[in-house]
Amino acid sequence: MEEVPDPVIQEPTDAIVRITSTAICGSDLHLYEVLGPYMHKGDVVGHEPMGIVEEVGSAVTNLRKGDRVVVPFNISCGHCFMCSQGLQSQCETTQVKEKGSGAALFGFSELYGSVPGGQAEYLRVPHADYGPIKVGSELPDERYLFLSDILPTAWQGVEYANVEPGGVLAVFGLGPVGQFAARIGAHRGYRVIGIDPVPERREMAARHGVETLDYAKGVADELREMTDGRGPHGIVDAVGMEAHGSPVAGFAHQALGLLPDKLAQKAMETAGVDRLAVLHTAIDAVRRGGTLSLSGVYGGQASPMPLLTMFDKQLQLRMGQCNVRHWTDQLLPLVEDDADPLGVTDLVTHRSGLEGAPALYEKFQKKEDGCIKVVLNPGA
Ligand SMILES: NC(=O)c1ccc[n+]([C@@H]2O[C@H](COP(=O)([O-])OP(=O)(O)OC[C@H]3O[C@@H](n4cnc5c(N)ncnc54)[C@H](O)[C@@H]3O)[C@@H](O)[C@H]2O)c1
Ligand SMILES: [Zn+2]
Ligand SMILES: [Zn+2]
Repeated sequence: MEEVPDPVIQEPTDAIVRITSTAICGSDLHLYEVLGPYMHKGDVVGHEPMGIVEEVGSAVTNLRKGDRVVVPFNISCGHCFMCSQGLQSQCETTQVKEKGSGAALFGFSELYGSVPGGQAEYLRVPHADYGPIKVGSELPDERYLFLSDILPTAWQGVEYANVEPGGVLAVFGLGPVGQFAARIGAHRGYRVIGIDPVPERREMAARHGVETLDYAKGVADELREMTDGRGPHGIVDAVGMEAHGSPVAGFAHQALGLLPDKLAQKAMETAGVDRLAVLHTAIDAVRRGGTLSLSGVYGGQASPMPLLTMFDKQLQLRMGQCNVRHWTDQLLPLVEDDADPLGVTDLVTHRSGLEGAPALYEKFQKKEDGCIKVVLNPGA
């Protein structure tokens, strides 16, 4: 926690938002550890914010002071070639070309443009003439907050998993993204099997009609046994590069932590740093001809993949940062529905002011005290 100067309007398309709620994401945990070498002193993290517009630049005609908005984690212009294809996470106006990265992201280190993030009292929102989602004033923040990232991320993950009507979807990882992916699968009428080593995460998923399994060596066999020997039609990997059960890469992570930043960056860019237990298990478990959808983030350039099996099984693989704005118009009525069909009000386990962030980062990473999702309320 540090005091920094309040942000100011820099471009006519900027807005300044006073943050009322801002969540901690599993992606923040990568910055907290594996991607640490890309972080610099004074970087402001956070990319799941919402709040009240305080000020707008001269070119922002869609927003006014006092509007309540949710801010998508990717910064996109809305009118370039990629945005017009619904690929807002590849926006050509904000791409971080010097790092070879896609659209700039809030609070995500030099890899994604070093844009100050939203775990703060105030946020400067570039391209505010397109990005922010205007919402009503009656429902509590938590109904809307997850439109910033994890709800559209899970939606895209399930969409990409390409499960046929009435088919079987498996979701590896029942963190916040996996919880929503599993619930979205159930909402669409799929049979959903969720896998996670943490008991309270399995219990939460089970409350929403999801069958659950612990993660163990034989889990691919278990999945086949549950599905006529064939395996699930589609699998969402909502775990990513820090999967438990991958001892070798675990050691690589520790070694990276001991290197100076520049050397560690080099190692990230040339060595296999991902913990691949889940990805390789999913390749094994998915039905022949099925689809793997990676919502979980991977970070290495040289992580080994079982291409023989992938080719032989005729798999499809889809992945990527979520194109948040592409999905939010469909999701808005679902979060505003009084029946709460996706269960957005059953996810947050810990809340605090900004001052609680350091302790809650640690709790969330270590999965202590039943911690599943943290929301910070600056100024509350
Ligand atoms: N694609 C995107 O746009 C996007 C957006 C948000 C988050 N993410 C990524 O999604 C992933 C999940 O994020 P989250 O917020 O849910 O965080 P999280 O860290 O809480 O979730 C990860 C879950 O995986 C479980 N897990 C670990 N090892 C496992 C194993 N071997 N088998 C099964 N489960 C295992 C953990 O217990 C945890 O519940 C992260 O990689 C995050 O960066 C991607
Ligand atoms: Zn996130
Ligand atoms: Zn664009």
